[in-house]
Amino acid sequence: MALSVFVGWLFCFLAVSQVGARERVLFNDDWRFALGHASDRDADMGHAKGYFSYLAKTGYGDGPADPVFDDRHWRKVDLPHDWAVEMDFDPTASFSHGFKKVGPGFPENCIGWYRKRFTVSEVDFGKRIFIEFDGIYRNAAVFVNGFFVGQEPSGFVSQRYDITEYLKYGDENVLSVRADASTEEGWYYEGAGIYRHVYLLKTDSLRVARYGTFVKTSVEGGRAHIKVETTVENDGRELAEFKLQHAILDANGREVAKVAVAESLKLEAGENLVRDDELFLSRPKLWDLDTPYLYTLKTRLVDSTGVTVDEYDTTFGVREIRFDPNKGFFLNGRSVKLKGSNNHHDHAGVGAALPDSLKEFRIRKLKEMGSNAYRVSHHHASPALLEICDRMGMLVIDETRLMGINEYHFDQLEHLIKRGRNHPSIIMWSIGNEEWAIEGNIFGARITTRMQDFAKRLDPTRPTTAAISGGWGGTSTTVEAMGVNYIRHGDVDRQHAEFPDQIILGTEETTTQQTRGIYVENAKLAHQPPIEDGSSGGNAELGWRFYAERDYTAGVFFWTGFDYRGEPTPYEWPAVLSQFGILDNCGFPKDGYFYLKSWWSDEPELHIFPHWNWPDRMGETIEVRAHSNCEEVELFLNGESLGRKTMVKNDRLAWDVVYDPGELKAVGFRKGKATLEKVIRTTGTAVAYELDAERSEIFANGEDVSVVTMRILDAAGDVVPTADDLARFEIEGPGRIIGVGNGNPSSLEADRFVPSVESFDLGEWDAPAPWDEPKPLRFEAVFDAPNLKVGQSGRLYLNVIGRDQVVHLNGEALPEGTEFALANLSLKPEGNMLTIDAQPFEEWGAKERVAKLKPAFVGVFTPAEGYRRKAFNGLAQVIVQSSGEAGEIVLRAVGELETATVRIKAKEH
Ligand code: GAL
Repeated sequence: MALSVFVGWLFCFLAVSQVGARERVLFNDDWRFALGHASDRDADMGHAKGYFSYLAKTGYGDGPADPVFDDRHWRKVDLPHDWAVEMDFDPTASFSHGFKKVGPGFPENCIGWYRKRFTVSEVDFGKRIFIEFDGIYRNAAVFVNGFFVGQEPSGFVSQRYDITEYLKYGDENVLSVRADASTEEGWYYEGAGIYRHVYLLKTDSLRVARYGTFVKTSVEGGRAHIKVETTVENDGRELAEFKLQHAILDANGREVAKVAVAESLKLEAGENLVRDDELFLSRPKLWDLDTPYLYTLKTRLVDSTGVTVDEYDTTFGVREIRFDPNKGFFLNGRSVKLKGSNNHHDHAGVGAALPDSLKEFRIRKLKEMGSNAYRVSHHHASPALLEICDRMGMLVIDETRLMGINEYHFDQLEHLIKRGRNHPSIIMWSIGNEEWAIEGNIFGARITTRMQDFAKRLDPTRPTTAAISGGWGGTSTTVEAMGVNYIRHGDVDRQHAEFPDQIILGTEETTTQQTRGIYVENAKLAHQPPIEDGSSGGNAELGWRFYAERDYTAGVFFWTGFDYRGEPTPYEWPAVLSQFGILDNCGFPKDGYFYLKSWWSDEPELHIFPHWNWPDRMGETIEVRAHSNCEEVELFLNGESLGRKTMVKNDRLAWDVVYDPGELKAVGFRKGKATLEKVIRTTGTAVAYELDAERSEIFANGEDVSVVTMRILDAAGDVVPTADDLARFEIEGPGRIIGVGNGNPSSLEADRFVPSVESFDLGEWDAPAPWDEPKPLRFEAVFDAPNLKVGQSGRLYLNVIGRDQVVHLNGEALPEGTEFALANLSLKPEGNMLTIDAQPFEEWGAKERVAKLKPAFVGVFTPAEGYRRKAFNGLAQVIVQSSGEAGEIVLRAVGELETATVRIKAKEH
């Protein structure tokens, strides 16, 4: 007895002391997914069909928005998820979105429904509870237990909804999301669905507001001055009295500075307060490209009884940025040329649904090239990407989606800036890109001014840019940082002369557009050799030289770092990928990568191309090029020197070589000494697969990935540069494949292999209305057994329509239960008779529920086919993800060639 009283008291104490502690839980796992329909409400599973819609009466979410809706047969998915990438390609689908069957013309593939069941403990009653989405593509309407909680048109803006009042505490809740990808926001592949993280957030009603801290840092005399603006909100019902403390923790979690506001602060119910505090750090570690040191500001709100009611962490870096209109960009007082790339957000295999570690992989690839800057084109970055850029030392320009000066536009701009302004990686805000209707006229000049003023009020520490292409003379006259999209579109030197106080940077510049490993054009397959005169009249070499030579420019961002889906210009179907990338969409480097790496990174580099497999070109002259930062390079064919040449900075070398199969060798010299060697050989035919995991150890957390390269080798172990052999991938252990790719712009192979479900309802349910006179219930259905193909399985689903329910199938009583494998039932091919008899429920709620139920339906499941992919020019990629448990993941490539195996260890944190 005494013990139970003690336990009860302890529970009570814990419960109370828990109230207020901020808790944010990742909500990515255990979702159910199904496609609805954009124009047919029945095919949209009855959503918004009711006499009163969810916009008419609160809590009237119907179809999958209704908690009663039965989703037991829907596909299970974990987030992030992109349903567009799972679709087939179709020549009538959107060119700019990569011909996947989503968007205009495909209403049956435009609506994605997601549902998740979750419980919230009774202990949480009294907290404020929110659901947070980092981004859903797009126009996502969110429902909790049938209540419409909000809608966000943009696919790139984070959504947060207070769901406190709609929850059942200590019971099951249903979260439903309807994403609508019918309308495209951008002109490039954007994906579809909940492709970013989701969180459940619990706080006290007194808390630091959303994006409620703004940390500004400056350094003087070896001391950092940290100014913190904090917004606290009280959405409780009473006056709150509290104390505020800030502490700064270093990267090891040690407290290195703190400030406690002496006086008690008071905040009326429903009010906000904004206050400024200061902290100092002696000998701060600066955030920089190679040493991206991060501090954490811990903000605590402590109530009058001494209980911490909120603890809010802000990650920040101490760094100084400065743009000088005559000398370019400075980081921590040092001149740094921005060596950047533009990037959309998709990757091979997974579309827009990149796990964080795949985002990290991409940033790593760019950094390895010597790139230090990333322009997020043309939308708000995901929070995860910004965290990664902070951690890895990558400078970022984050961009808003649509220019304009109304609430819609300003809300988005405010979101962009408030969400991002503590990230040390962000150095500039982009307020628009190639807005042709306004950029060259007075509208552009005015709108830019208005947006800039708004941005400055939210963040006076960073400049704003807008990327301008053809229309100079409007936005370009008022923008703070002139974003030049392609040097051929205007006279950059003249702009600098006319606007000497304006920052200038190349927001976009043409790369040496190429299909990886291709040196002869095949337009039908969209295979493109490197081009001297790219789509905007240049190439990486011209572009880099232009900006390198002009100290007043802050730097350049190439279009693009990685190939992306959509915009396959200059090709059409069956081209589905752009080819602007310095790397292909898997992250395999093209030749231009080595040009930039030679001049951007400090690593010694020597690369020669093309490959040396030209059986049809015996005796022909082939130009062999070298990208290198060696001072001299000598080329040898089969041991014979073809001459040593001197490299000029920011240039490349070339030799005319009469083709003879064998070995092409380049030797790089520094100070007269041979320091580097690169050999390419004419290969034999393909004999084996090879698998190589970029990371041989990953975390066993169900999220982490290892990017595996498949190579096709000849008998000597050299990669066959023209091989396109198919491989099937088998996986064992605690891992799963989440996507495959090969960088081939006209490959119409599947990126993902996923299971599918079809379902059909049995019988007609003449459901009694809750107010009907109670009478015994009977449901009858006659149905044919589904014709299951090999590998398919079926299930019969039942619902409980009343008390004492009895179910008969073909005259025999079924055992208790609501779900049966068809294989375990005695079904006739045709004319099966199902009956359900029950006594009516008495309780109003149960009667209402019964009226909405389907008494019986069948689901037919087709399992995913095994993953497979052809190589493209010798390479393919397999993305392997931890499935959660620790252990060894074994991946095999099997097919016509010798099998390859790679092992990846999934280890506990
Ligand atoms: C630019 C534009 C990019 C992309 C590129 C393709 O003009 O800003 O988004 O469309 O052209 O060449």
